[in-house]
Amino acid sequence: MSHAWRPVFVVLAVVVAMLVVRVIFVPSDFSAKNGDYKYQWHRLASEQFWKDFPVKHKGREFCQQCHSELVDKIKDSGHQNIQCENCHAMFEPAKKSHPINLKEDFGYLLDIGIERSRELCKRCHAELSYRPPTYTTSKGTVTFKMIDPTKHNAGVECVMCHDVHTAGFKTAGK
Ligand code: HEC
Ligand code: HEC
Ligand code: HEC
Ligand code: HEC
Repeated sequence: MSHAWRPVFVVLAVVVAMLVVRVIFVPSDFSAKNGDYKYQWHRLASEQFWKDFPVKHKGREFCQQCHSELVDKIKDSGHQNIQCENCHAMFEPAKKSHPINLKEDFGYLLDIGIERSRELCKRCHAELSYRPPTYTTSKGTVTFKMIDPTKHNAGVECVMCHDVHTAGFKTAGK
């Protein structure tokens, strides 16, 4: 046999190996749905998987059922576009403090609590050299009020002075 056949056998062996690997690893329902080979290559069972995927963040409407006053209050404030969960979802179970078990009664999956540290506010309000001070919304360009946390009342919790739900100031007796 001519030595020229040898590389042909090697190529054939590689092709066979690839087919075997494909059969073993590609799930049986991975196919082109409705014969659409351009956009519909996927594992068909994944459709149901994502339909059943539990939604964690439910938005303001969910909190509104019981906290309608706060939802109304925040709507008129500088924090109107920020969801309650943005500040109140706690990822350390130790910070969980919601008095009602939302998991049991509502199938709600996040832990709700209160974070009063400066860190919470710095996430959005700290001046950073690489963060532009303006952002664009449907109503035009908004200037984001940023503070230098090393100078702006350093060492005191922001919520000592600021009322976070009105994005204004706390007043005496409140
Ligand atoms: C079924 C009613 C109900 C729902 C839904 C609900 N809450 Fe509450 N929540 C309460 C009650 C009652 C209290 C105790 C009284 C109060 O502080 O207003 C409370 C207290 C709180 C507190 C104070 C916790 C503390 O440590 O004192 C926070 C923060 C809070 N809720 C946030 C939320 C957020 C955010 C949502 C939406 C994701 C939400 N709640 C959904 C009923 C509810
Ligand atoms: C920008 C962050 C932020 C957003 C947005 C926010 N909260 Fe708060 N919330 C806080 C902080 C911080 C406190 C603690 C305030 C304090 O100690 O003065 C607090 C306190 C609370 C409390 C305790 C009682 C009170 O009135 O102080 C409740 C209840 C509450 N928030 C519910 C909500 C709900 C409902 C929403 C959405 C409508 C919401 N919060 C949106 C940061 C936020
Ligand atoms: C998720 C981002 C976010 C977080 C967290 C956040 N803020 Fe804001 N804050 C905003 C936006 C957006 C505005 C509206 C634009 C502006 O005025 O800068 C705003 C506005 C404000 C204003 C009004 C500024 C003015 O003069 O009009 C104050 C005061 C304020 N925030 C304080 C706080 C405090 C205190 C905290 C922490 C408890 C906090 N914010 C947490 C995004 C945030
Ligand atoms: C001791 C009270 C006090 C504390 C603590 C405090 N602030 Fe303020 N803050 C003020 C006062 C007073 C003003 C208005 C005058 C000024 O701009 O300094 C203000 C203004 C602001 C403004 C608007 C700035 C602007 O350009 O109009 C933002 C945003 C703000 N603070 C965020 C924060 C954040 C975030 C924290 C915590 C990291 C914080 N503040 C801590 C008293 C306080």
